[in-house]
Amino acid sequence: MANGNIIDQYRAERAAYKDSVRTLRTNIQFADIDNGIHTIVITSVMPSEGKSLTSITLAISMTEYGKRTLLVDADCRRPTLAGMLKQRPSVGLPQVLAGTVSLLDAIVPTAQEGLFFLDSETLANPVEVLSSRRCSELIAEMRKHFDVIIFDTPPLCSFIEAAVLSSKVDGTVLIVSPGMTDADKAVEAIDQLNKANAKILGVVLNGVPDSYISDYYYRRKKKSAIKKNPLFIKKKKKGNK
Ligand SMILES: Nc1ncnc2c1ncn2[C@@H]1O[C@H](COP(=O)(O)OP(=O)(O)OP(=O)(O)O)[C@@H](O)[C@H]1O
Ligand SMILES: [Mg+2]
Repeated sequence: MANGNIIDQYRAERAAYKDSVRTLRTNIQFADIDNGIHTIVITSVMPSEGKSLTSITLAISMTEYGKRTLLVDADCRRPTLAGMLKQRPSVGLPQVLAGTVSLLDAIVPTAQEGLFFLDSETLANPVEVLSSRRCSELIAEMRKHFDVIIFDTPPLCSFIEAAVLSSKVDGTVLIVSPGMTDADKAVEAIDQLNKANAKILGVVLNGVPDSYISDYYYRRKKKSAIKKNPLFIKKKKKGNK
C-alpha cells in the first residue's frame, strides 16, 4: 500500500488483511467491555514497523463499525498521515495545543464517512507539548466529540512521546514486525510503557505473509513462530537460512 489515497487502497485490499484489521478492532473493543476503549495509542519499538498504516486502517475499521473516529497524527518527529491520506490541512495538533485554533476548526473530514483527521507538523519540543496539562484537556475534549480517537506516534526505541501519550489514553497497541523488532529494545520499550502506567492492549504482528498464517491455522505447525511471544523472536544468526 505505497501510492495513492490510502483509504481507496484499503478498500481494494485483500480480504485477509481487512479481516485481520477487524480482528484487531474487535479485540480492542473486548479489552474493556464495561468502560470501552475510546482513546488508543498506536506505537512500535522500531521505526517503519507499520504504526501509521495500522492507525489508518484501524480507524477506517472503527468507522465501518459505526464509530465516529478521529485519527490524530501525534508523530511530531515525522508526521506521515497527511501524505498517506493525500490531505494537507493548514493547521493541526500544534496549533490546537497552542490555543491559536479550536479543535473543531483544525479537524478535517476524510474520504471515509465518519473518519476525521487532525494533522501535525515537526516540532522542536514534542515531549513538552504532549506531556502538558493542555494536552490532557484536549484529549478530554476530543472524547466529547468522537467515539474513538487513535493516535499515531513515533517509535519507542528513539523517542518517549508514545509513552507520554500512553499514560493519558485508555490503551496502547504495540506493533511488532517480525524480523525488524530488536528483542532487547522491545523489553526496554515495554518497561518504558509500564513505567508510564500504560495499559498495553496487545501486540500486533504486522507484515506476516498470508502463507505463514495459513500454515498456522490449517497445518498447526508446532514450531510456528507466530505461536511464540513475538517480543522474543530471536535475531537470525549470520549464515542461518
Ligand atoms: N502489513 C503491511 N503490508 C504492506 N505494507 C506495509 C504493511 N505495514 C506497513 N507497510 C508499509 O511499510 C512502510 C512503513 O509503514 P508505516 O509508515 O505505517 O510505518 P511506521 O511504523 O509508521 O514508520 P515510522 O516509524 O517511520 O513512523 C509503508 O510504506 C507501509 O505502506
Ligand atoms: Mg509512522
